[in-house]
Amino acid sequence: MSNKLRVLLTGGCGYIGSHTAVELMRAGHEVVIADNLVNSSAAVLPRIEELGGKKPAFYNVDVCDKAALDDLFNRESVDAVIHFAGLKCVPESVEKSTLYYRNNLTSTINLLERMADHGVNYIVFSSSATVYGEQDTMPLREDMPTGACTNPYGMTKHMSEIIIRDAAKASDSLGAVLLRYFNPIGADASGRIGEDPQGIPNNLLPYVAQFATGRRKRLFVNGNDYPTRDGTCIRDYIHVTDLAIAHIKALEFIVGKQGHEVFNIGTGNGYSVLEVIEAFSKACGKELKYEFAPRRAGDIPTCYADPSKAERLLGWRAERDLKRMCEDTWRWQSNNPMGYGK
Ligand code: WQD
Repeated sequence: MSNKLRVLLTGGCGYIGSHTAVELMRAGHEVVIADNLVNSSAAVLPRIEELGGKKPAFYNVDVCDKAALDDLFNRESVDAVIHFAGLKCVPESVEKSTLYYRNNLTSTINLLERMADHGVNYIVFSSSATVYGEQDTMPLREDMPTGACTNPYGMTKHMSEIIIRDAAKASDSLGAVLLRYFNPIGADASGRIGEDPQGIPNNLLPYVAQFATGRRKRLFVNGNDYPTRDGTCIRDYIHVTDLAIAHIKALEFIVGKQGHEVFNIGTGNGYSVLEVIEAFSKACGKELKYEFAPRRAGDIPTCYADPSKAERLLGWRAERDLKRMCEDTWRWQSNNPMGYGK
């Protein structure tokens, strides 16, 4: 993209937000971050500055707070918004469903209304492959049915997609891109930023990485009787830097356009739990002794993307393989065994 953009990242202190902030700055753009730090740490900000070469403007703001968001838009002239902010723990969304609906939908609606009030016309939304629910056929394509989500978190992503789509239909100026992430893993090659989940990680790779450092004492594989090549679940793991770059491609696609478009952001390859553990064992140089445990409720056997639409329309494709994803994760985790905490 020739012209420099000033981009607001809601949830920009989070795992994907921070990596996207760095890639935007590396590509010559300016970044403003709004984050209420409910599931992230301000300790990432100096590292974003270190890697991106400039201190991003930071606002400790809850995107559900109308007045705070108005104040931010009055202070900052932005060209586009990438909306990462949201609660994202699948098991927690089952226990605290109304919290997830209130937070994730109010933030999306509030952001859209403030953008309209302040003449900000472009949004890229952090959606998820969970909107597909359980599908019989793979790989997943954007024209397949969505909405049969197996948890409230996935439903909030599906509903937010509809809210954004309908806002774009009602507007003569709003341009929106919905990016359906598959399984983001990995870390910036510098090892200075990475995934730092609060508490015990729910997701596979951050848990394996913490097990490899000795921070976790046992490694369980949830189920080995699935109808897959080795009995364990298969997922489309994508390097977080490839995912971050997809956001820049999405901005290049939508700025100057009106309407909305949806893209799967995955590699098109699936790896099993055992294959990931094996790859990580090679990356960290340690044998990782795992134990089989019962299936985890809600898990589907296989999920991977058909990413051809993003390649065709965005000119984007994932470039980093599982080996690189594991090596970069290990560099981050081994250099930051307590994440940003220490
Ligand atoms: C992958 C596989 C686990 C941990 C989730 C969210 C999705 C998205 C990505 C936000 C499963 C198994 C895990 C462990 C294991 N997040 N596993 N031992 O469930 O595909 O997707 O994260 O958008 O919305 O649903 O990813 O990494 O949690 O699990 O065996 O200690 O690894 O059971 O089979 P998932 P995951």
